[in-house]
Formats: sequence, structure tokens, C-alpha cells
Amino acid sequence: MSVRILNEMRLDFPAIAENEGFARVVVSGFMLPLNPTVETLADVKTAVSEAVTNAIIHGYGGERGTVRLHGVYTTEGLLYIDVIDKGRGMADVERARQPFFTTAEGEDRSGMGFTVMESFMDQVEVKSAVGEGTTVRLIKRVELRDEALPRRA
Ligand SMILES: Nc1ncnc2c1ncn2[C@@H]1O[C@H](COP(=O)(O)OP(=O)(O)O)[C@@H](O)[C@H]1O
Ligand SMILES: [Mg+2]
Repeated sequence: MSVRILNEMRLDFPAIAENEGFARVVVSGFMLPLNPTVETLADVKTAVSEAVTNAIIHGYGGERGTVRLHGVYTTEGLLYIDVIDKGRGMADVERARQPFFTTAEGEDRSGMGFTVMESFMDQVEVKSAVGEGTTVRLIKRVELRDEALPRRA
């Protein structure tokens, strides 16, 4: 059986700290038809928070910019959330993903954001180019219950 998209959303918002909470609520609402467990919901919200905070703080670094969320879940029971910025990007993604690596020492950053994303999601893919921006793809297996599937009109 081929994989079908069950639900999809796109959202653009300005890169301001207030929108971190907004992104968490949006992702919760998007996942609602899946009837997720409290734990799954908390895991995804935590990972999204980390990625959105990174886009705002590191990607745009206080400059104006737009953060995009793109969410999909499929008949395979996979949830994908892309967090996209067109900010400064990273020269060395592997290095940035190391636990405790941060370029924002003294600003109360722990360098554990990517480690948190990896521990709460099943897979984390990062694409980045200096001066072009960063896309973080967060992937998690979600249980598909019959009654949770969106119905066709
Ligand atoms: N969206 C992004 N754009 C540019 N650089 C980023 C982005 N996300 C992460 N980084 C870089 O990766 C480093 C590690 O990120 P992270 O693990 O979340 O730790 P922290 O945010 O505490 O520094 C950051 O310090 C930053 O240099
Ligand atoms: Mg971080």
C-alpha cells in the first residue's frame, strides 16, 4: 500500500520569543486528530520548542525574520515537523549537534538543544548552509488508532 498524507499544515510567524509558545500550541492542535498520549504530545512539543528557539536565537540572532513550521502525518504513522529559518545557517552541522556545543556561551544556553530533540524524537535531520538558513526535520512514530484518522468529507 502506498503512503498517503493524512494531514498537513504550514505556518509562518515572525522570529520573536513570544512565538515559541505559539508554535507549541499549534503543533499540539495539529496532532489532536491523532489522539496522542500525553507523553507523545509532550515529547513533540519539547522538541519543537528547542528547534524554534534555535531558529529565533541562532538563526536570526535578534534580526527580523520568519520561522516556518511544516507538519505532516502519514498512513505509515509517521509525524514530520519541519522547522525552517532563512537565517545565518551553520558551517558544521555535525559539530553543532554534539552535546554541550554552543556558540552562545554566557547567554545561558546549555548546548543541549539538539541532544534534547534527538532524545524526544525518533529521528532528527538537519540541513543548513551558511547565509541561507537551516531546516530541522523532526520525525516521530505515532500510533494511528482507527477513530483518530481524519475522515473524508
Ligand atoms: N537554526 C539555527 N541557525 C544557526 N545556528 C544554529 C541553529 N540551531 C542551532 N545552531 C547552532 O548550534 C548550536 C547548538 O544548538 P543547541 O544544541 O540547541 O544548543 P544551544 O541552543 O544551547 O546553543 C548553537 O549554539 C548554534 O551555534
Ligand atoms: Mg538550542
